[in-house]
Amino acid sequence: RLIDLKMPKGFLWGGATAANQCEGGWNEDGKGPSTADIATVGSIDKARVYTSKIEDDLYYPNHEAVDFFHRYKEDIALMAEMGYKCYRMSIAWTRIFPTGLEESPNEAGLQFYDNVFDELIKYGIEPIVTMCHYEMPLYLMDNYNGWKSRKLVNLFEKYAKTILDRYNSKVKYWLTFNEINSAILSSIFSLGIREASMQETYQASHHQFLASAKAVKYAHDNYPRVKVGMMYGGIFSYPHTCNPEDVMACEKDMDRYLYFPNTMCRGYYDRKAKSFWKNNGIKIDMNEEDEQILLDGKVDFIAFSYYMTMCSSASIEVKMNLVGSSIDGAENPYLSKTDWDLSIDPLGLRYALNILYDRYQLPLMIVENGLGAIDEIDNNMEIHDLYRIDYLKKHIIEMKKAVLQDGIPLLAYTTWGTTDIIAAGTGEMKKRYGQIYVDRDDEGNGTLNRYKKDSFYWYKRVIESNGEFL
Ligand code: BG6
Repeated sequence: RLIDLKMPKGFLWGGATAANQCEGGWNEDGKGPSTADIATVGSIDKARVYTSKIEDDLYYPNHEAVDFFHRYKEDIALMAEMGYKCYRMSIAWTRIFPTGLEESPNEAGLQFYDNVFDELIKYGIEPIVTMCHYEMPLYLMDNYNGWKSRKLVNLFEKYAKTILDRYNSKVKYWLTFNEINSAILSSIFSLGIREASMQETYQASHHQFLASAKAVKYAHDNYPRVKVGMMYGGIFSYPHTCNPEDVMACEKDMDRYLYFPNTMCRGYYDRKAKSFWKNNGIKIDMNEEDEQILLDGKVDFIAFSYYMTMCSSASIEVKMNLVGSSIDGAENPYLSKTDWDLSIDPLGLRYALNILYDRYQLPLMIVENGLGAIDEIDNNMEIHDLYRIDYLKKHIIEMKKAVLQDGIPLLAYTTWGTTDIIAAGTGEMKKRYGQIYVDRDDEGNGTLNRYKKDSFYWYKRVIESNGEFL
């Protein structure tokens, strides 16, 4: 039986976080403020506010987050105890270049990540590093309007070269921008632009494509062992019905999101991209050399997040019944939902793996998957998160089918969260994903002590058996 089979030898099991959601230490050792540092707490019904500056009397959850900055040794020891083979994390651009403009990097910031990588390597855990995960120097948002400005391309290139030069011997796998396609959902997260028109969004994404391609080329030219991937925010859609109108609506919805991997994996804007621009009155301002830059910077692999699927419909009435807070899709009557309104679709993960591989024929990594849920800690300091085990187990079964039956080359699987961290969308602590509970609430109270959840012990056995035990 397939469920009894192991994943291929060398498969990288692990967990994932992002600097701004776990580190804290927001202004320590020379770090500059990032766009994540001006975001307050929200909830499923209330969006986070990005204040115009840091206000003394407001609570900003990312400032201290879960204090990985001071506790990384304890956290990495727990990852090692679970048997992690890899850990996906990000570097905070503002630790290295506090405003983005400095000529030379902040040595204390560079040293911090050396310490983290050394600690991981000590336990045989392979770091997978995102260069830019939903944050950037606040200075660049305030003064350049983020990625709207082409100046960001060179500033990012300087940052990417600095970290590649420094860490190439410790970090083999790199991702340029987290969920780069989410630019079309939230310009502040991805692009550091408070309000962006469609034209501005696509122009800003063009600048990110160039920046990413330059990082890829630099890595290829200088460090042959390094692999650089793109990171797709896993949006996958089904037609809401077999009405051909819905099938075509699905194709169009997917085109909007796959525009990003299409460009980064093929190294050029394809027919669909160009007709999308034409039909929407978008005009991308390109320099003469841009086409060559894109072509020279094709990515080596695709990493993606997977939490849900959506349904596409041609009917406005059906579309009004949305899934999730920001994604323009109809509800799927065959699927249940999480407390935060995302559909739960394990089989969709196998579908997603097949779609991505057949389209691009590049190796894949699942770098985020997990259940955001409210966990209760009992008097014995135990957390019985059986719902999370159930969620992960069902997804891993489908992942195994994709690899072992469908033959998809998959390099890694990382759960979202190792410890609990600050939720990106809402800034909440109570929306927990990790296998390690952190004592902290939405107002910032708590000891920050770590406790192992039931999913910790379960995942340890999964990794130990290379996926045979589920
Ligand atoms: C992904 C992001 O979209 O989803 C993460 O890359 C984020 O940064 C994760 O944390 C889960 O979303 P949320 O809003 O529940 O934290």
